Amino acid sequence: GDESDLVARPPVVTVMGHVDHGKTKLLDAIRNTNEVAREAGGITQHIGAYQIATEHEGEDRKITFIDTPGHEAFTAMRARGAKVTDIAVLVVAADDGVKPQTIEALNHAQAADVPIVVAVNKVDKEGADPNKVRAQLTEYGLVAEEYGGTTMFVDISAKNGIGIENLLEAILLTADAELDLRANATMDAQGVAIEAHLDKGRGPVATVLVQRGTLRVGDSIVCGEAFGRVRAMLDDNGEAIQEADPSRPVLVLGLTAVPGAGDNFIVVTDDRMARQIAQQRAARKRIADMARSGRRRTLEELF
Ligand code: GTP
Ligand code: NA
Ligand code: MG
Repeated sequence: GDESDLVARPPVVTVMGHVDHGKTKLLDAIRNTNEVAREAGGITQHIGAYQIATEHEGEDRKITFIDTPGHEAFTAMRARGAKVTDIAVLVVAADDGVKPQTIEALNHAQAADVPIVVAVNKVDKEGADPNKVRAQLTEYGLVAEEYGGTTMFVDISAKNGIGIENLLEAILLTADAELDLRANATMDAQGVAIEAHLDKGRGPVATVLVQRGTLRVGDSIVCGEAFGRVRAMLDDNGEAIQEADPSRPVLVLGLTAVPGAGDNFIVVTDDRMARQIAQQRAARKRIADMARSGRRRTLEELF
């Protein structure tokens, strides 16, 4: 692929912030769903990925959102979310202000060198002080445009649906002004598994983000040390789809093992090659582990 094979792709936006500041509620408001009500204890414990359609300056646009947990225990998921993203939306509750995981989240985003849009949430609440959030964040290098800086702050209420359109606009303005989001959509797919688990009925399932190319049902893939043929793909509404284009998150069925979250995937020519690559990687890992432990292993243990 050369330049001419590149087409526009939707921005991938990771939603981050302190626990209970309203990240999932915000995505519910954007998607017209009620994910918050389904969560045990109202705490997000996994990474969710969704794609939405919107209109911006008279054009149909899409945005991919990645929801991350805010609980302090889930640092790794926040770091992983920041790594695959184009833009970070930092959610800060206006009644609570900047908190430890607010800072941790913005550190992940700054480490990944992605632009940050701040969503100042819960402005409907008594005691909400959106300007205090702006003042607090200046300490961390996020200076609001209205204060002479370059960071977009948008006041929202995920609960009442206030400011949601403005936030989507801020995301797309940031994408268009600061990023060159293009990908080859015709090549074999590459991307990353953002989450994976063993499903009782369906076997290993992985939520993957396609970053380049198009992933199709029937493709042979290697994902970390896991491999298999894509038996089915489901979009974020659980609908079966035949192909997934760049920036699309999709649930993949058909892997023979559960890949690691954060593992990259590639499409290869056939199942045999997928198996070989996966086995080579697994062997390499066992050798590295052995070198680390310093214990001698038999050949049988290794291969
Ligand atoms: P974790 O994923 O567990 O970190 O939480 P979260 O950031 O996803 O927060 P969540 O969406 O679960 O919302 C936490 C609580 O705040 C829920 O009870 C929401 O209903 C409430 N909430 C979220 N947004 C708003 C808002 O704009 N206004 C008010 N009043 N409540 C909100
Ligand atoms: Na929560
Ligand atoms: Mg949540």
